Amino acid sequence: MAELRPFPPSQRRRALARQAGLHAASPLLVGGLACAAAVIVIAMIGAAMAARAGAWIEAAVRLDATLARIRGVPVETLARDAGVTSIGAVLYEENCAACHGRDGRGNQLLGSPNLVDGNSLYGNDAGALLTSILDGRRGAMPGLGGVLGHEGANEAAAYVLSLNGYQAPADWIAAGKVRFDALCVACHGVDGQGNQALGAPDLTDDVWLYGRDFNRMTQTIRDGRNAYMPAWRERLGEDRARAIAAWVYAAGQRETGAAN
Ligand code: HEC
Ligand code: HEC
Repeated sequence: MAELRPFPPSQRRRALARQAGLHAASPLLVGGLACAAAVIVIAMIGAAMAARAGAWIEAAVRLDATLARIRGVPVETLARDAGVTSIGAVLYEENCAACHGRDGRGNQLLGSPNLVDGNSLYGNDAGALLTSILDGRRGAMPGLGGVLGHEGANEAAAYVLSLNGYQAPADWIAAGKVRFDALCVACHGVDGQGNQALGAPDLTDDVWLYGRDFNRMTQTIRDGRNAYMPAWRERLGEDRARAIAAWVYAAGQRETGAAN
């Protein structure tokens, strides 16, 4: 008769049960810990986002308050208000720097004028500045290559350079002056000093929208130029435009050393 196997001692059974229980519990434990960790992480992210949103809302409220303070105030006055110009600087960077450069010194490849050199196409006063920003501008230099021919364009460019003290063959300059008097004075003026009502640049001050390079100048004369400045009234509204104008105006004053 087969001997009955002794039943496992109760202590060992309990140990086994405990072990089994633990094994059963461990996925739960791990899962629970993971959940808790996830909850903590989510809570932390949530708190961080809430803090950022809070800061953002606070900044927006402060911006609104400052913009309300700006309404209708002359740009020259705003230019002396650091709270306004610091907002203007941020808005300038976001909306204007791509074309006019971070420092406002323009970009001759784009024909974007230097805004801080005290030399404006449309007038140096704050009113012209704000109008440029709100309503945009479009330069209209017609292509005159058809009338002038290649040689005529070279002569006209030589004459323009001579107005700025640069050397060029005397016969080119003489022929260029005749061309200039016939075709250019209507916009650039008899003396070549430009016309702010038309945005026609002064061609005697050695300040160049497109650069002084002879080839670029003859290209301008042959093919024309139509630099385009977008209007910002719809996109930014007048208060923000004023804040930007204040920053540009102040930067110009700093750059040219002009007193307010
Ligand atoms: C897409 C490029 C572009 C952007 C963006 C741009 N501008 Fe212009 N801006 C121009 C060009 C090009 C002109 C020259 C227009 C012309 O020749 O008539 C100009 C002209 C101006 C003028 C007149 C300059 C003068 O000599 O009288 C002012 C002021 C000006 N921009 C300010 C701004 C400000 C402020 C912003 C941002 C809100 C801005 N621009 C954004 C391209 C740009
Ligand atoms: C209908 C008016 C008009 C006439 C005519 C005209 N221009 Fe212009 N010119 C302009 C305007 C406006 C600009 C600025 C273009 C821009 O903003 O893109 C300009 C720009 C220029 C420039 C570039 C200046 C710079 O700063 O880089 C030169 C050079 C120039 N003109 C020479 C001439 C010459 C030479 C003639 C005659 C052969 C002439 N223009 C005739 C209106 C005119």
